[in-house]
Amino acid sequence: MDRDSADFSGEQMLAEPPRPAAVGPVVVSVCTTCKAADGSGAVVGPEMFDAVKAALGDADTAVVVRPVQCLSVCKRPATVAVTSPDGYTFLFGDLQTDSGTAALVSFVQSYQKSDYGLVPWRERAEVLRKGMVARVPPMRWSPDDGRAPK
Ligand code: FES
Repeated sequence: MDRDSADFSGEQMLAEPPRPAAVGPVVVSVCTTCKAADGSGAVVGPEMFDAVKAALGDADTAVVVRPVQCLSVCKRPATVAVTSPDGYTFLFGDLQTDSGTAALVSFVQSYQKSDYGLVPWRERAEVLRKGMVARVPPMRWSPDDGRAPK
């Protein structure tokens, strides 16, 4: 389970990396080939993509919504990944169009304000907490003990 590391009691790292003021652009990848979990064979990915694209819009040039074909979480449709060049990558599954889209909009806003895009647990909507598949640290940040930044 993904949790904030607020109760981490290990020694402080001697060489802390500088915290980026911004982590953008934020890239939201929506799987457009996801099929409904009910076995009907209905493709639900395009509906999710259209909803997320419409909700996040084109006004913020620091956010890019793109279609992708399969995020390898096919048994938990619909699936979406949120990442940035210097930020964490989050992968979510089990998203419904309405609740998932609203949650993603809020998540992206928090992501933009968070160090390394590490959105605090308390700022994640319930559907994203339950739908969390993976949280991968940014490539250029990796302390020896692997802990998340405080
Ligand atoms: S088809 Fe959507 S994750 Fe594989």
